[in-house]
Amino acid sequence: MIAARAVLEARYRDRVRADPALTRRLVSFQANKSLPFYRLFKYKEGFSADLVRRFLQDAPPGGTVLDPFAGAGTTLFAAQAAGFHATGIEVLPVGAFAIKARSALGRVDPDDLAAAVARLRADPLTDAPAGPGFRHLPITRGAFSPATEAALNAYLAAVAAEPDDDIATVLRFAAFAVLEEISYTRKDGQFLRWDRRSGRARATFDKGPVLSFSDAVFGHLGRIQRDLVAAPRPAGPPIDLREGSCLAVLPTLPASSFDRVITSPPYCNRYDYTRTYALELAFLGVDAEGLKALRQTMLACTVENRAKRAAIRDLCAAAGQPALFDRADRAFQDCEALQEVLAALEGRAEKGDGHRRPELAGVLLRDHADADRDPPSLVEGREDGSDLRGVPGQHGFTSSRCWPGRGPVTSTQ
Ligand SMILES: C[S@@+](CC[C@H](N)C(=O)[O-])C[C@H]1O[C@@H](n2cnc3c(N)ncnc32)[C@H](O)[C@@H]1O
Repeated sequence: MIAARAVLEARYRDRVRADPALTRRLVSFQANKSLPFYRLFKYKEGFSADLVRRFLQDAPPGGTVLDPFAGAGTTLFAAQAAGFHATGIEVLPVGAFAIKARSALGRVDPDDLAAAVARLRADPLTDAPAGPGFRHLPITRGAFSPATEAALNAYLAAVAAEPDDDIATVLRFAAFAVLEEISYTRKDGQFLRWDRRSGRARATFDKGPVLSFSDAVFGHLGRIQRDLVAAPRPAGPPIDLREGSCLAVLPTLPASSFDRVITSPPYCNRYDYTRTYALELAFLGVDAEGLKALRQTMLACTVENRAKRAAIRDLCAAAGQPALFDRADRAFQDCEALQEVLAALEGRAEKGDGHRRPELAGVLLRDHADADRDPPSLVEGREDGSDLRGVPGQHGFTSSRCWPGRGPVTSTQ
């Protein structure tokens, strides 16, 4: 049953080494919690800036780095700070907004921001004018106390009058980043847990103290201002963010255009980002229809189906790269070890543990890193210098090997 994997593992054994430095702290978001800027939005699916720096330490600056599952932009900002041209693709508006806000933060003048914050502090934030404000999704109703929701809406109305776009973005980001703190919800693994004060049926959990909107938002603005003063501004080239699914965006990028790919793809389970980040998505104006479409797009990337296969072929054709689909498809079908893993996952899915077949995205990726034909996993690299590394294993997914071509190979286990 594991013959093809065993053959591949034997072939690469002398190039695989366990790296004890790749601790859970380094590969997960934990290490970001104390870093200026990175700490400002807790994206628990992210990895750490230190890990990215480690991956880039032997690379000559000035090259190109891609993260096709950019999240809140750890790869992008760490690469930018190290002097690389960073491109990110992200389908979830939550990550995309965090990246845009952080880029805006890199451009604002600290004194102008301080003046805008002082104006807001002088506002009692009690009267929310009639207007759009926070528009709930069915799954977010009851998340805030009436006083909190009124203050949030009054704040958003005041921010809408801010003339400087970057400052307005940073001010909105401060509210966005504290939504969990001011709500009766807590992100808990795959779920949003509801405090009993929400009045929701079956909500029995007690979250403890819930911050008032003013305390939370001005506390966070204080952190933002301190980071602006304490930490250097990004000196590298601006980040190129592409919003959308990498399945659609990758075929539009020229082949062999990246020196390095550093990423952490979503796993082939049914982890539903749209549920965990429902409050943030509602804040960003995603409505019920938009949420459904987003959920389908995201699940489509980790759950195999024939319709998607045809869609990927069409996307490649539309991008003028029909051969890309054929190459990727052949690599996908011909990799015996991969097919063996997929069959094992399918077996587990049949037993009901939720794993499904991963899809072609990783193989399309390989084309952009121009990888050689051998590597056995969706995390792979190539012989002639470019390098593709990932961080499997963060959320307990069992495979935890990285296979960067002929260079040093590291493993978190
Ligand atoms: C494990 S997280 C990556 C976190 C990122 N490395 C960081 O440190 O912030 C995976 C990301 O992939 C995004 N994603 C999932 N499917 C996607 C797709 N088809 N195209 C682009 N992004 C996608 C998710 O929204 C999520 O932000």
